Amino acid sequence: MKILVTGANGQLGNELRLILPGAFPDAQVLFTDVADLDLTDSAAVNRYVEDRDVTHIVNCAAYTAVDRAEEDKAACTAINVDAVKNLALAADSHGAKVIHLSTDYVFDGRAYRPYRESDKVNPCSHYGTTKRAGETALLALAPESIIIRTAWLYSPFGHNFVKTMLALGQTNPSLRVVYDQIGSPTYAPNLAKAIVCILRSAQWVPGIYHYADSGVTSWYDFTKAIHRLGGISGCEIRPIPSEDYPTAAVRPFFSVLDTTRIRLTYGVETPYWLDSLQDCINRLKKQ
Ligand SMILES: NC(=O)c1ccc[n+]([C@@H]2O[C@H](COP(=O)([O-])OP(=O)(O)OC[C@H]3O[C@@H](n4cnc5c(N)ncnc54)[C@H](OP(=O)(O)O)[C@@H]3O)[C@@H](O)[C@H]2O)c1
Repeated sequence: MKILVTGANGQLGNELRLILPGAFPDAQVLFTDVADLDLTDSAAVNRYVEDRDVTHIVNCAAYTAVDRAEEDKAACTAINVDAVKNLALAADSHGAKVIHLSTDYVFDGRAYRPYRESDKVNPCSHYGTTKRAGETALLALAPESIIIRTAWLYSPFGHNFVKTMLALGQTNPSLRVVYDQIGSPTYAPNLAKAIVCILRSAQWVPGIYHYADSGVTSWYDFTKAIHRLGGISGCEIRPIPSEDYPTAAVRPFFSVLDTTRIRLTYGVETPYWLDSLQDCINRLKKQ
C-alpha cells in the first residue's frame, strides 16, 4: 500500500500525519502540500502518482477561505475543481483509489432534517459550487472514488472557529455570534479515524458519504462552550441573527449531515461534539 496524502499541512492533513503511519506500519505514506506537489499542475500530479506507484490518494487539499472565494473565484476553482480532475485522471490511469473531502456547503441549508447523501444539492456560494463541481468531476473521471462530505471542521492545527473564538475571547469584552445557523462541529482527528476505517476495511464501496461528529449546536452555543471549556470568563457573548452579520458568502442555515451510511458501511464512530471539543482544548492548552 502506498498512500498519498495531499494538502497535508492543513487541519485534516496534519491529523492524518499523526495517525496514518502508525495505523499502516507496512505501508509507505507520502505527505505533500502545495510546495511539494501543486495539484493544479496536471503533469506533475500524473508523474508523482506514476513514479511512486501510489495505490491510494487521500485528498485533503482545498481552497477553504469561503468568503475570499467570492472575490478570488479563479484560484478557488483551480484548487477545488481543476486539481481534483488532475488527481482523478492520474488515479484512473494508474489504478489508484481516491478518498476526497467535500462539504455541507453543497446544500442550501433549507432542510428540516439531517441531509442524506442522496438529497438534492444546491450550493449557495462559490466555494460550495466548486466543491460540488469537484465531486461531479471526480465521480465522472474516477467512478471508484469515495467522497466524504464533512462540516464545521476544527483541530489544534491551522485556522478554524475554535482557535478564532479563543483568541477573540481573550482580547474582547464582548462578542456577537450568530445563533440561527445550526450544524455539527467536527473534530479533525475523528474524521481522520473515519478515513483510517475506510482504508483498513476489506470492502471499498465507492460513492458519497457524510461524516460529522454527533449532536448539533449553533455558532453561538458553540462559542459559549469554547469559552467555558477554554476557561474564558471575561467575555460576554451576545446572540445575533445572521442578518446582523453579513458575509461575502451565503452560508447554509441548517448544515446537519446524516451519517448513517458511513456508520453502517464502515463501522465508523461519530463521537459527541462537546467531548471532542474538550479534547481539542486540552491539546491547545498543552501547546
Ligand atoms: N474547514 C472546514 O470547516 C471544512 C468544512 C467542510 C469541509 N471541509 C473540507 O475538508 C477538507 C479539509 O479541510 P481543511 O480544513 O483541513 O483544509 P485546510 O486546513 O484549508 O487545508 C487545505 C490544504 O490544502 C493546501 N493546498 C491549497 N492549494 C493547493 C494546491 N494547489 N496543491 C496542493 N495543496 C494545496 C493548502 O495549502 P495553503 O494553506 O498553503 O493554501 C492547505 O494546506 C477540504 O476538502 C475542505 O473543503 C472543510
